[in-house]
Amino acid sequence: MTANELREKYIKFFTEKHGHKEIKGASLIPENDPTVLFTTAGMHPLVPFLLGEPHPSGKRLVDVQKCIRTGDIEEVGDATHLTFFEMLGNWSLGDYFKEQAIKMSFEFLTSELGLSTSMLAVTCFAGDDDAPRDEESAEIWRSLGMPEGRISFLPKKDNWWGPAGITGPCGPDTEMFYWTGEEPAPAVFDSEDKRWVEIWNDVFMQYNKTEDGRFEPLTQTNVDTGMGLERVTAVLNGKKSAYETELFTEIIGEVRLLAGYSEPNEEQQHAERVIADHLRSATFMMGDQFGIFPSNTDQGYVLRRLIRRAIRYARKIGIEVDFARKLAGIVVKNYGDYYGELRDNQEKIFEGMALEEEKFNKTLHNGLGILEKEILKVNDRKNEGVKAFEENFFFEMLATYGFPVEMTIEELENEGWIRDESDKKYVMDKFNHYFEEHQKLSRAGAEKKFAGGLADHSEETTRLHTATHLLHQALRQVLGDHVEQRGSNITKERLRFDFPHPDKMTDEEKAKVEEIINEQIKKALPIHFEEMSVDEAKSRGAIGLFESKYGDTVNVYFMGEGDDAFSIEICGGPHVNNTSELGSFKILKEESCGAGMRRIKAQVGANEA
Ligand code: ALA
Repeated sequence: MTANELREKYIKFFTEKHGHKEIKGASLIPENDPTVLFTTAGMHPLVPFLLGEPHPSGKRLVDVQKCIRTGDIEEVGDATHLTFFEMLGNWSLGDYFKEQAIKMSFEFLTSELGLSTSMLAVTCFAGDDDAPRDEESAEIWRSLGMPEGRISFLPKKDNWWGPAGITGPCGPDTEMFYWTGEEPAPAVFDSEDKRWVEIWNDVFMQYNKTEDGRFEPLTQTNVDTGMGLERVTAVLNGKKSAYETELFTEIIGEVRLLAGYSEPNEEQQHAERVIADHLRSATFMMGDQFGIFPSNTDQGYVLRRLIRRAIRYARKIGIEVDFARKLAGIVVKNYGDYYGELRDNQEKIFEGMALEEEKFNKTLHNGLGILEKEILKVNDRKNEGVKAFEENFFFEMLATYGFPVEMTIEELENEGWIRDESDKKYVMDKFNHYFEEHQKLSRAGAEKKFAGGLADHSEETTRLHTATHLLHQALRQVLGDHVEQRGSNITKERLRFDFPHPDKMTDEEKAKVEEIINEQIKKALPIHFEEMSVDEAKSRGAIGLFESKYGDTVNVYFMGEGDDAFSIEICGGPHVNNTSELGSFKILKEESCGAGMRRIKAQVGANEA
């Protein structure tokens, strides 16, 4: 079964057999969520609905969600880790709970995918002070014929999921594993044995984790599930790794062609996987509906690291020519039918790749020059080895010149300054020391920036979210209809709004935007939302991302009355009830954030009313 067939089968099973509504997967860049840089799971865009807001498509949902997890980029390249993956998910928002969820999972795995029970094992939550042992789930598995030895109870670190950020919905889960070993599956499941591969997770979201670390019961009990498309495709095709499936064959084939080998040795296999994984992720990031570009902050920085790491590994296996753009082309070709945004944005992706590769080549070239100069300075102390260099030099190569420490080490090895493992360790220790110092300094800032919980629906963020709608509309009035939201991020202190516009805004334009918004605040416009079809929303003049994530029915927020409202925008909410609650509005900063893109940071004032 191909990955395309698997996606289709999953959606059909839940929509046709079990009454779910299919919703569109969301952007990789979370909207209005300050606690994470990327969408990491299918539940992520659904947080407001898991917390109790009614979803316009109902209580049973199913989708395919693009996800990015870059917790440990440096680990990627083994058999199972991917930075980008697709998550198949089904949800119950206060509808079915454990019994039906587990029964549907089991039915899908066995009847639809044809996997044998003899190859499956499951784990359940062992219980602790926050929540009891999940005997209920285990009993359901037993009733389905799962033998005792294949049901394990594990602690929170294994069988509890969420919240995705610092706060939010979470709960015990039951995970399903498939045996991928050569020998017959052992009678007893062993969580340490990597040949048992996790393929699906059913989370029973009964709790909301609060900022002070408490688990408070949710008013509605939800089910959140996630199945890894790449892993299941591998399992269904008898492959040991997602990298051996059709999802990667073409891109890895091209890497081999460029590098000039057909059978990889171990080092080459690791490198080709890193390259394929990272450039697939990078392509999806740049081709997202809220596409981002390499930069030195936030998401752009992660993207830059992925591309640059891919380039480093390419150089290692002898690829000298520009290649990133070519590999991105394969990703667009293979995924463009399902993810139309990749095709829509392909020129941007290709230009972005080529530009970053060119920049990094320059960085490497310059870095080598600096390194040579530095070596000349200490050349008469070569007997001291790496200790001859200034202690902070290895970190400065990265911090000041963008030259990765791995490459500094490689060069120093080639030049005979690093003679053994202990020299290498010395360099890494010094590097890490200065790196951590640097982190400590910037952490104070970062903590402020990420203050607030996941989808933190505090008063402050709700007011800023409402202000974002007013800003969107005001910018269109002042600058023109080409202004549309391309990115939004809200912390407790400020909103951030990215939009396409060719020029720096003048002082007059900024003042005008502020004036318009403050007028709407003074008018004390009432705010309400209505559910309607996308077509109706369009015909009533709503702005917002039409094809993004809410499926057929959408919530449309009106600020002001009826079709004469000041702002009509598709959105999941939440918002304040009246614009007067914003008090006042002020632009803090207007700056460039990429070619033809502007970024505004703004705040709302205390409510003087
Ligand atoms: N949200 C759950 C996960 O990511 C399903 O595993």
